[in-house]
Amino acid sequence: MILVTGGAGFIGSNFVLDWFTHSDEPVINLDTLTYAGNMENLASLRGDDRHIFVKGDIGELSLVENLLARYTPRAIINFAAESHVDRSIHGPEAFIQTNIVGTFHLLEAARAYWDGLDPGKKQAFRFLHVSTDEVYGSLTSSDPAFTETSRYQPNSPYSASKAASDHLVRAYHHTYHFPVLTTNCSNNYGPYHFPEKLIPLMIVNALAGKALPVYGDGRQIRDWLYVRDHCSAIRRVLEAGKVGETYNVGGWNEKANIDIVNTICALLDELRPRTDGKSYREQIKYVQDRPGHDRRYAIDARKLERELGWKPAETFETGIRKTVQWYLDNQAWVDHVQSGVYREWMEKNYAGRTQ
Ligand code: NAD
Ligand code: DAU
Repeated sequence: MILVTGGAGFIGSNFVLDWFTHSDEPVINLDTLTYAGNMENLASLRGDDRHIFVKGDIGELSLVENLLARYTPRAIINFAAESHVDRSIHGPEAFIQTNIVGTFHLLEAARAYWDGLDPGKKQAFRFLHVSTDEVYGSLTSSDPAFTETSRYQPNSPYSASKAASDHLVRAYHHTYHFPVLTTNCSNNYGPYHFPEKLIPLMIVNALAGKALPVYGDGRQIRDWLYVRDHCSAIRRVLEAGKVGETYNVGGWNEKANIDIVNTICALLDELRPRTDGKSYREQIKYVQDRPGHDRRYAIDARKLERELGWKPAETFETGIRKTVQWYLDNQAWVDHVQSGVYREWMEKNYAGRTQ
């Protein structure tokens, strides 16, 4: 059995669904169900005994201790986090609590549990921490891509909180020999992506006839990875990663934001044309930039390929087409996540941005 935290969020739920297409090994899914956690992502697992969902906080030490004692997992995969940069700018507190203090408590509970295991199980146990490329800061257009030895230079409260958690994970290995693995991944996209992030926001706003808000000049670059490729990378690192090592995960897909938005518009023009015959591009609006906006991220994922033989299966063209089609086919999911809380966030983040 494995313990997954944050398994009702975007990547965590894709990971749990993907896990069961490869294995029958049960998963305990610990998620506190913030605005970003959604049990509808896991609807296909209702009644499936392999999936044990527990609503709770990674920072609640006694809860995690009890879960570990009761289910004796062979591994923990830590996805749980506050994940949205813009929210961290409006309110960093939750990021400090979950990403730093929460990870610390999870590590404490896990270390005590691991310490008490018999030698064979102790040897096999792994704590895999899911992190981000944002901890490495921002690149210029001519800089080489981030490697595992790039310096940590986080620029937002979100990335600073993830960097702090990565440091704790590293220190637990160095000090206690706790068997950790860390993955630093680039921007994911795909099904169940909450429509506060660029790609799903552009799809749902386009279909709703709303503005497509591009920050600043739209020339910021991100390196996109289809979420199921991230899942396969995590499975591979869990299976064969070297304890104490970090692995960069990326899709070799550097794209400027405006090019992403234009691609989405072109796909929607093809798959669900506007009734007035115009292009969805008409809805693009340049708006005030994100404070401290990182210019470029790029991941060098050669270590993972060289040492563990992992490569992404999707190209950006295949992945983005699947993603747009998924949102067209799952309008009910979109309607449900756009609750009152979602509307409050849209007002808070976009109403004050000048064009
Ligand atoms: P998400 O915001 O969609 O999901 C986070 C999940 O964690 C939610 O289900 C939420 O309810 C849960 N959660 C939050 N606080 C919790 C707590 N204290 N205890 C238990 N559960 C809690 O995030 P995501 O995009 O799926 O990202 C998952 C992980 O991957 C994060 O650690 C993030 O930093 C990392 N990551 C994300 C990306 C990306 O592009 N989305 C890229 C690289 C790394
Ligand atoms: O790089 C990995 C990171 O990718 C993860 O660690 C984060 O959890 C994840 O949210 C993501 O962070 P970004 O800030 O890169 O993702 P986001 O989708 O918020 O924004 C992508 C780019 O699009 C970024 O340059 C900001 C821009 N953007 C975003 C929004 C929401 C816009 O231009 N308009 C928007 O409305």
